Amino acid sequence: MKALMITSLTGPDALAIQEVPEPAQKSGQRMVRVKAGGLNFADLMTTKGGYPGTPPAPLIAGREFSGVEETGGRVMGYTQWAAFADKTAATSNMLWPVPEHWSDEQAAAFPVNYFTAYLGYWQAGMTEPRAPGRQYRVLIHAVAGGVGTAAVQIGNLLGIDMYGTSSSDEKLARVKALGLQHGINYKRNDYEEVVKNFTRGEGVDAVFEMLGGEHTAKSLRCLRDFGRVIQYGTATGKSPKLDLRAMYAKSGSVQGLWLTYLAPKREIMEPAWQQLSQWISQRKLTPQIGQVFPLERAVEAYKLLEDGKNYGKLVLKIG
Ligand SMILES: NC(=O)c1ccc[n+]([C@@H]2O[C@H](COP(=O)([O-])OP(=O)(O)OC[C@H]3O[C@@H](n4cnc5c(N)ncnc54)[C@H](OP(=O)(O)O)[C@@H]3O)[C@@H](O)[C@H]2O)c1
Repeated sequence: MKALMITSLTGPDALAIQEVPEPAQKSGQRMVRVKAGGLNFADLMTTKGGYPGTPPAPLIAGREFSGVEETGGRVMGYTQWAAFADKTAATSNMLWPVPEHWSDEQAAAFPVNYFTAYLGYWQAGMTEPRAPGRQYRVLIHAVAGGVGTAAVQIGNLLGIDMYGTSSSDEKLARVKALGLQHGINYKRNDYEEVVKNFTRGEGVDAVFEMLGGEHTAKSLRCLRDFGRVIQYGTATGKSPKLDLRAMYAKSGSVQGLWLTYLAPKREIMEPAWQQLSQWISQRKLTPQIGQVFPLERAVEAYKLLEDGKNYGKLVLKIG
């Protein structure tokens, strides 16, 4: 079969389409003929050997996909590696049925972004009914990206007041159309200042933080009393720095979120899927796709993500 191979852990230029043997189906797995692949920041990190647990090269790229099972059923799924190929063997409890009204590309843009965003709100305590008169506020970094746009759609449904950062006014305009109330172009404005001014010094209940370095400390300074920084990435490549004074000042905390760790936990994923699938059937969630690339142009897609030029999800057409 045809597969997108990471031939060495030296970045996107080492990606190549090659003929490889079909995967063996282990117990607990189902075979899927892949139609489309969702590109994640983690895929980019993997090409550089920077994603935790990356096996030695060569390996098949890709962690998120949609496709068809031998029974004819359409599925979307999540795996660690080996999704960007004609066929992938996927763990049964990480496959979900594709909503009838969604294309293969939309389905491939769903699992990672929406589960991560939903679990972010869940970890921040915002999926529970809130006290009368209580309005939650959240700050979403990279709000125009894959997880960011999913967080805006879900935040809207949960009735949350959202602040979101991006490097581009054009991207922010698109996310505002999705329901983001306060867009912050961080090239022009300091998000810490904006949050402080707009909330009259109170801050936000949660920050969805995926940049690392100084941004963790800055995000802590954006918190309201008992607020939480949900740390789910380090796109800057720098280790998160803490600001303990800011933590003490507001009784704030930093909480990690890693979908890879949570995904096998049925008791966490099942309620999340119940809520997400209900919203999908009510046509309230629509994966945001910036661009679709044929597999032959995968390197271009990876580099677009590397340069932060993507809006929403980049999808690879495979089948
Ligand atoms: N923990 C988990 O389980 C989990 C799950 C999914 C994703 N993640 C993490 O969440 C983050 C977003 O992932 P994604 O796949 O949805 O990507 P994405 O947000 O679609 O793309 C990355 C965006 O981040 C912004 N950015 C800011 N600084 C950047 C930098 N130094 N390099 C590249 N981009 C930068 C860019 O938007 P602007 O130019 O608009 O700022 C860019 O478009 C990543 O850090 C990823 O590792 C974690």
